[in-house]
Amino acid sequence: MTAIHPPGPRRRRPPLPWVLPLLLLAGCDGPQSALRPGGSDALQLDRLFWVMLAGAVVLWLFINGLFFAATRLQHGPMSRKRAEALIIGGGIGLPLVVLTVLLGYGLSIMPDQRAPGDGLRLRVTGEEWWWRVEYWPPGATEPVVSANEVRLPVGQRTEIELAAADVIHSFWVPGLGGKTDMIPGRVNHMSLQPVEPGLYRGQCAEFCGLSHALMAFQAVALEETEFDAWLAQESQGIGDATQAPGYAIFEREGCGACHALRGTGARGQVGPDLTHVGGRESLAAGILPMTAEALADWIAHPEAFKPGAEMPAYDHMEEADLLTLATWLEGLE
Ligand code: CUA
Repeated sequence: MTAIHPPGPRRRRPPLPWVLPLLLLAGCDGPQSALRPGGSDALQLDRLFWVMLAGAVVLWLFINGLFFAATRLQHGPMSRKRAEALIIGGGIGLPLVVLTVLLGYGLSIMPDQRAPGDGLRLRVTGEEWWWRVEYWPPGATEPVVSANEVRLPVGQRTEIELAAADVIHSFWVPGLGGKTDMIPGRVNHMSLQPVEPGLYRGQCAEFCGLSHALMAFQAVALEETEFDAWLAQESQGIGDATQAPGYAIFEREGCGACHALRGTGARGQVGPDLTHVGGRESLAAGILPMTAEALADWIAHPEAFKPGAEMPAYDHMEEADLLTLATWLEGLE
């Protein structure tokens, strides 16, 4: 028999089918990975993922085995009785057993995912496109207000109330737990219990407009004593930082109309509280580093970093004033 195609140069073998999943799995690391759990809820979800994956692999092998048996080992037509047994057993019996077991396991971990807190309460409100964060320690009559960063004590279960100011957002720190939607007009509840101190990254997980992808935040898990010291410091006003020239510029430019600085007359509620802005790990809801240069760029051209942001551009300011203001803000820790 003659070959249909003349022999050409040796064709390269296609990449092995397992290379692609391995490459994809290589991306499942970093501070925003659910496969690097650092909270008790995330640990449960991580286990759920691996159990599901293992189950799927076993089923896949089993079904492929059946396919092999039916096509290679079976010769001739199958008896009606055997075909019926296969359809009832494989089509109804097997999925019923597998799905019931998986559902039971999934339901069994749900109560833990909604466990009540140990005392500290947080209220996080989704705004376009940043996070208002209020800390309510037990017995507090007013909250310690912050923004765009969530700090939690390790070993403690913290209750988190989730609200939305404008549209639906979703609060998600994959390394600490599952996600919960933030819906205007109602308050949803979740709780998180970090077990591993460190920096985790959160992300809004519900499409909420132009800059949805730029609505992130840092979640910082601190040892309990460290957390208490931080919260005590965070509850203070800005003190004698009002003596610095940066504060005069802040006042002159009218920043206090939108931003609050505790301990001063600046009580604006429209934008993030800036009392300890320099102490945060990032700027503008997780998209810029907390440096004086980034602050200056942000103040002058917010729309260049976050399309649709309500913060007006302060590009009329003198470069020197801008840097003085930015350096002063960065110093507010
Ligand atoms: Cu907020 Cu997406």
